[in-house]
Amino acid sequence: MSEILLGPASDFSEGDYKVYAIEGEEFGVFRVDGDLVAWRNQCPHFQGPVCQGRVFNRVSEALAEDRTSEGLCFASERHVVCPWHGFEFDLRTGRHPGDPRYRLQKIDLAVRDDMVFATLP
Ligand code: FES
Repeated sequence: MSEILLGPASDFSEGDYKVYAIEGEEFGVFRVDGDLVAWRNQCPHFQGPVCQGRVFNRVSEALAEDRTSEGLCFASERHVVCPWHGFEFDLRTGRHPGDPRYRLQKIDLAVRDDMVFATLP
């Protein structure tokens, strides 16, 4: 394992993300609700570049008892959508919301003296 300096924490603004390719490892760093999280840029579906997908709030559709739509609901959880086939993942947990078999691989981050470090496997 090696620790890599990514830069000042202030370089990562809310809702923003950066994708790195360092020492043969690609990963994305996201700021979510003030915290920094990092995931390998490899989708568990077919290894697509998941961290380069669009980020938005989770959307669900409420259904009535007769299974008709009652409209879309926008939750507070931030999700990233893989650009290859549309699988989406919770940016805080790395989990696919509908299938626990699919999960992103975490990259450990540390912030010291306002500088962000990633620990690569
Ligand atoms: S490779 Fe990401 S959804 Fe298929």
